[in-house]
Amino acid sequence: MNPMSICTSSSSSSSGSSSSSSYSTAKAWIVHGIVAGVAVAAAIGARAYLGRAAKFRSRVVGIIPARFASSRFQGKPLVPILGKPMIQRTWERAKLAASLDHVVVATDDEKIAECCRGFGADVIMTSESCRNGTERCNEALQKLDKKYDIVVNIQGDEPLIEPEIIDGVVKALQAAPDAVFSTAVTSLKPEDAFDPNRVKCVVDNRGYAIYFSRGLIPHNKSGKVNPKFPYLLHLGIQSYDSKFLKIYPELQPTPLQLEEDLEQLKVLENGYKMKVIKVDHEAHGVDTPEDVQKIESYMLERNLS
Ligand SMILES: *[C@@H]1O[C@H](CO)[C@@H](O)[C@H](O)[C@H]1NC(C)=O
Ligand SMILES: *[C@@H]1O[C@H](CO)[C@@H](O)[C@H](O)[C@H]1NC(C)=O
Repeated sequence: MNPMSICTSSSSSSSGSSSSSSYSTAKAWIVHGIVAGVAVAAAIGARAYLGRAAKFRSRVVGIIPARFASSRFQGKPLVPILGKPMIQRTWERAKLAASLDHVVVATDDEKIAECCRGFGADVIMTSESCRNGTERCNEALQKLDKKYDIVVNIQGDEPLIEPEIIDGVVKALQAAPDAVFSTAVTSLKPEDAFDPNRVKCVVDNRGYAIYFSRGLIPHNKSGKVNPKFPYLLHLGIQSYDSKFLKIYPELQPTPLQLEEDLEQLKVLENGYKMKVIKVDHEAHGVDTPEDVQKIESYMLERNLS
């Protein structure tokens, strides 16, 4: 039996009985992964299922790629946020994720490496020729002593990333053997609807990505934001099947990827599947020096230190 068919029927029955809002359907993605798991276990025998689940893509490494040079924000990973380097905050969050067997920082910069070793992180030096974080993760993966089935690319500029989100994308990839990639989205704030730096996402009814865009998708024919539609904002975190990560940088750029300047479109344009989970998360990406003040006042308001 195809686990995905169980998935579909459980999600439609639950949304039918509780509420018909598309928001609750979206929220059900994580939940119906669990429901599907239970159904499969019942169908084929709990022990066989657990045995298989325990083996599938079980070894997981979290990699935090960090470079010093940045066109928009030189030295960004080391910028202090309430007195602690941003990369340290990201690393501390990642260390709390139960799904990660190992967490490393991958960098080409000696200052960053030194700082990270100082607070206790494992560091992998990668070459300066890495063109982006994905390539850096791939190079780091090759240099690790142990083998891993899943690599989580934890972007260093999301210092408030919740460990539960990391665990969520890992579980999603473990539960979706037909996907090579998983990532997370959260509700899009109406004021971010037309900001091209906020990437929007649409998904199918089983939580697989259909498309990502810098424009607002879906597009209401009024041309305005529909206040009732649950638009999705893409979060930077992503995890890959490590076999896929090895070929990902080598896949030729694709037309939609180039037009939108969104790397993840290359995955979809090549016909690979990507699992998306919906989470509650206030995005506090640090892209510019001004963002540092914003995140600091946010943390002070909430007594986060
Ligand atoms: C478009 O948005 C409006 C609200 O702004 C909503 O009432 C309508 O159902 C949406 N869809 C279409 C097809 O107009
Ligand atoms: C990252 O680098 C790879 C080449 O290794 C390229 O295919 C991909 O499109 C790049 N992504 C971005 C966002 O530049």
